[in-house]
Amino acid sequence: MLEDWRISDRVLQIQKSAIHEMTRLSKEIDDVAFLSWAKPTSDTPEHIKKAAIDSIKNGKVGGYSENKGLLELRKEISKKLKRDNNIDSVPSQIVATIGAVEGLSAAIMALIDPGDEVILPSPTYSTHIRQVVLASGKPVLVPTVEEKEFDLDLDAIKKSINSKTKAIMYCSPSNPTGTVFSEKTLRELADIALENDLMVITDEAYEYFTYDGHRHFSIGSIPEMKKNAVSCFTFTKSYAMTGWRIGYLHADEALIPQISKAHIPFAICATVVSQYAALAALRGSQDCIKDFRNHYLSARNLMCKRLDELDSVFDYQKPRGSYLMFPRILLDEGSDSTTFCKKLLKEAKVSTTPGIAFGPTGEKHLRLSFCVTEEMINKAFDRMERYFK
Ligand SMILES: Cc1ncc(COP(=O)(O)O)c(C=O)c1O
Repeated sequence: MLEDWRISDRVLQIQKSAIHEMTRLSKEIDDVAFLSWAKPTSDTPEHIKKAAIDSIKNGKVGGYSENKGLLELRKEISKKLKRDNNIDSVPSQIVATIGAVEGLSAAIMALIDPGDEVILPSPTYSTHIRQVVLASGKPVLVPTVEEKEFDLDLDAIKKSINSKTKAIMYCSPSNPTGTVFSEKTLRELADIALENDLMVITDEAYEYFTYDGHRHFSIGSIPEMKKNAVSCFTFTKSYAMTGWRIGYLHADEALIPQISKAHIPFAICATVVSQYAALAALRGSQDCIKDFRNHYLSARNLMCKRLDELDSVFDYQKPRGSYLMFPRILLDEGSDSTTFCKKLLKEAKVSTTPGIAFGPTGEKHLRLSFCVTEEMINKAFDRMERYFK
């Protein structure tokens, strides 16, 4: 087939998103049990919505903000970084971005030259792979250790480093596996980065959602990593603000003007009304984070219990964090996860995401999302029990 001559090679290399494809297919089916989207189902807390409405009424949102974001927001973010991430910062080290995703894209564009290699522990959030490809970098997918709850394989990471390696990029807590990399492991990863002059780009979107005593650790809090870490965060998950498109990144002060050069052509600045909403989120009660976490924890426990009852179909690693899990499909048909998930949707009316969407090591798996109601989990598993019987 001839490629469309109008389209750049960069974009042609990017495959259609399996997540969006499953969403589209799911819409064609009545009364689907939906476990395929990593989007909080709760609405944004009232005080945040009210602050946004007030900012509109008071005429504060009609213009651009400073490219890096409102100073008062960056000051508040700086306090949060100290309180919750143990990262010492000043506002000039922070950029407000259009969600974590735009911050990650801007960081990659600022750091990666064509042909540079970026190590991604795999399976990983598929957007990260696309971001590297869009910058004409080369994603190097290094498998995680499934039997150890998809933990980092530090030896394999070391072995994959060569003169073209520029960065390591990961999300912890992880989408899609729910892994939380420990402080010890991340300190060892930091040593590897420092020994080899590598950048570490983190996606900490699920920072508050960890369970069973596992704690989130920010590699950017290690003083020696000051020049080597770019840490990306978001309001999307913590405050159920998916559609507001607001996040931020923290990096060494000297990098900020360079990252801004990549941020400005995409965004000029983060959406100003959302910056006011984010300010209210940081200044207001943090109870919603606790409430979301408690809900995800009981939803996770329910999903694991229901998976235990399907142990001839799925094997799984209990997620330590995020609101996602990544069971292995034990049936022969699982070797093609896309066909498996499409069939499950069509014949059992359960929407999941094929593991292949998260890199080749994701094949034979599917991703299940537990940021849904317990009724939705029970509905999906009742159907799967009948289907696989
Ligand atoms: C790991 C990870 N990072 C980033 C995002 C998106 O974040 P944002 O809405 O802040 O761009 C998601 C959404 O699912 C995600 O799973």
